[in-house]
Amino acid sequence: MNYQEFYQKSIQHPKHFWKEQANQIDWFKTPNTILSKDKYNYNQWFADGELNLSYLCVDKHIKDGFGNQNALIYDSPVTNNKEHITFNQLHHEVSKLAGGLQSLGLEKGDTCIIYMPMIPQALYSMLACARIGVIHSVVFGGFAPHELAIRIDDCKPKIIITASNGIEINKIIPYKPFVDQAIAKAENKPERVIVFDRQLGVDIPNKNYDVDYTTLVEKSPKVEAISLKATHPSYILYTSGTTGTPKGIIRDTGGYATALKFSMKYIYGVNEGDTFWAASDVGWVVGHSYIAYGPLLNRNTTVLFEGKPIRTPDASTFWRVISEHQVKVMFTAPTAIRAIKKEDPNGDLLKAFDLSCLKYQFLAGERCDVATLNWTEEKLKVPVIDHWWQTESGWPMLANMVGVALQEVKPGSASFPVCGYDIQILDEDGDEVASSVEGYVAVKLPLPPGTLMNLWENPERFKSGYLDRFPGYYFSGDGGYKDEDGYVFITGRVDDIINVAGHRLSTAEMEEIVASHNAVAECAVFGVHCEIKGQKPLGLIVLKSGEEKMKNQIETEIVQDVRREIGAVASFRDVLVVNRLPKTRSGKILRKLLRNIADEQQYNIPSTIDDVHIINEIESVYKSHHIGIHK
Ligand code: COA
Ligand code: AMP
Repeated sequence: MNYQEFYQKSIQHPKHFWKEQANQIDWFKTPNTILSKDKYNYNQWFADGELNLSYLCVDKHIKDGFGNQNALIYDSPVTNNKEHITFNQLHHEVSKLAGGLQSLGLEKGDTCIIYMPMIPQALYSMLACARIGVIHSVVFGGFAPHELAIRIDDCKPKIIITASNGIEINKIIPYKPFVDQAIAKAENKPERVIVFDRQLGVDIPNKNYDVDYTTLVEKSPKVEAISLKATHPSYILYTSGTTGTPKGIIRDTGGYATALKFSMKYIYGVNEGDTFWAASDVGWVVGHSYIAYGPLLNRNTTVLFEGKPIRTPDASTFWRVISEHQVKVMFTAPTAIRAIKKEDPNGDLLKAFDLSCLKYQFLAGERCDVATLNWTEEKLKVPVIDHWWQTESGWPMLANMVGVALQEVKPGSASFPVCGYDIQILDEDGDEVASSVEGYVAVKLPLPPGTLMNLWENPERFKSGYLDRFPGYYFSGDGGYKDEDGYVFITGRVDDIINVAGHRLSTAEMEEIVASHNAVAECAVFGVHCEIKGQKPLGLIVLKSGEEKMKNQIETEIVQDVRREIGAVASFRDVLVVNRLPKTRSGKILRKLLRNIADEQQYNIPSTIDDVHIINEIESVYKSHHIGIHK
């Protein structure tokens, strides 16, 4: 198939194109209205169609005679456990848990937070919610109780589903106690907390709102998947924005199912029955789309991996999983490859495994540096595909669509726009720039099916954050350029969001926490280069007078504050005291300049800085603390 022809069809005749793709899934009621407007005058797909994601991921395959195929392989080096779960078994778990949720009073349209480690029960919970029209919101386990409380107050769940513990390499993470702390902090208290006891021999605090997961499933009846409107929200997924408050991205049902089914075939190039592995976490969008819903919708066996690329037990884990479970297509973040490469630069550990099953290695979540791409390609000897997308899009926006036709890989580029995404590079005024000129990456409306519907109870922020900047376009928040051949290169965020080990974090949120320390007069938090994680946050603080004596203690306290409020995932470890911060005349701190100095990027000293010595001071503080490239 010709990529250009296929792509052009999707842009020129979107209704026709997506109607055909919608026909690839089973609807309870086939849609007649393909593209229309919602009450906010924003585009919606398949408004009069009805379907159920849980049915498509589970029941359909049993009906088609594949009940004994593995739906899920749970591989957990941290507990030394592996489980193979067939579609029949998945049906049993999901339909009974859905019955349990109903027995606790959950109804279509209610919300439910899932705060769980990478265990099968996390997937069962998502599918059980989808089965009965309950809108789930999975919160990543690396977030602290405070962050969980913010999400509880925003989406007001009737129920939270959690597990007793998580395991990070060899540390036990107290999930249930974190939930209790979050509930204590939140204004909106959920009625019940369903707790899956992992039987790790750790005491779980008991509360009167607790319900035991295993008992609930045992005693509950199986329930059928209900018919839901295509526009029924399937989930809310919070992501970092440019303020301290996270944004609740809302995903629909019908557009999402259509887009995911399409993507498995045309982007990832997998056939039904193949094994697919996204080494991410269910708390991120990659986990939603490509650990849970995408592969299961496409009748792929999905791998649920509870471990890390290194230290569980070593840098060969990924290769062991690929070879042992016959993974055909794998997806991870470049940071994971950099971590492996650091431990095993020559790829010696890889030689012990037969990786002939692997056809493509996909990378996303952050910019992929050329060295990482080349190393991966050289060691795995398969095409390595960098592709670009966001929580908001829900599925890839730029990719080498290998299921259509593999294009030449250009290192540093995430290749071409995916069908449905009319991606343009705009200047400040919203005009398209010439090729190879950097600008703002925007997508001409309408966005294809499966992309965000709105922000949870915040349509104003949706409009102002994504639609108002360039009328007629969705603004991604990323900068980039297109070369003469049409390859798109993403150069990074143009806002205060940073990407740490493939995790999207808001420096504004960290800055709010740092600024609230009593000894801090002013501060700046921004991302600097990190060899393994891509970026890491750095805080610069100016102390109130008289506080200098306590400098070391204050630095430690601030690191602890950010860890306590946001969580370990923030990886906030560096905070430095400086005498002053460079600012514009209007008093705006020059964060970009501070970042460029740390990363040894070219920078101009703005004429607005009256005293250039300030730059020399900052440089010497960086050097003495081995910050950024200087290390
Ligand atoms: N639950 C609880 N804590 C978690 C967690 C979770 N699910 N995930 C991470 N954390 C904690 C870690 O234990 C660590 O805590 P520490 O400061 O006490 O050591 C902290 O958050 C930072 O974790 P992480 O970013 O994973 O860094 P690391 O140094 O432990 O590991 C890598 C580095 C590169 C190996 C790791 O980041 C990695 O595997 N990255 C791939 C990320 C990925 O797949 N992203 C998905 C996007 S597609
Ligand atoms: P998230 O919403 O957490 O998936 O993060 C999305 C952001 O990660 C994007 O806006 C980009 O800034 C960055 N990102 C994701 N994939 C890529 C990629 N392949 N290349 C460059 N940046 C990427």
